[in-house]
Amino acid sequence: MNRRSLLGRLSALFTLGPGSEPLFAAPAETSIAAPKEPWAATTFDYSSQSRTFPGVAVRLPDQGLYVACRICPHQGCAFDYQTDFETVGDIVGEEFSNPVMFCRCHMSVFDPANGGRVLNGPAPRPPWTFTTRELDGNIVITSIEPGAGDIR
Ligand code: FES
Repeated sequence: MNRRSLLGRLSALFTLGPGSEPLFAAPAETSIAAPKEPWAATTFDYSSQSRTFPGVAVRLPDQGLYVACRICPHQGCAFDYQTDFETVGDIVGEEFSNPVMFCRCHMSVFDPANGGRVLNGPAPRPPWTFTTRELDGNIVITSIEPGAGDIR
């Protein structure tokens, strides 16, 4: 089998026909400007498998990043990143020591400094996270945690 024939057979394996979508599409990637200062954040949308996931990337004081999907694991509301953690603490009757993720639907609070640990409310787990890499001042989001957005 020559090279051209092999490429033709491989092409046939990965497509259904003219005009059809490839069976095995390359994973989606999204690039955003990386937040630089401690506790700065950037929101974004990431599309994968015909679904769009809202996300937020938070620069942590140790220069690490916490990059999470903003779909609340409780019942699926979109939550926000809040630098005014004292006000969030007043609302839910707790005391927090750093910015948090806050879901207003049922008052779940997540800690970006500790992997999204649940600090308050009924959420059964931390937010789903994205796989990322930093490149030339940008964050490249390459995938999202399996099961993201599946509310049970
Ligand atoms: S949907 Fe977020 S706490 Fe219920």
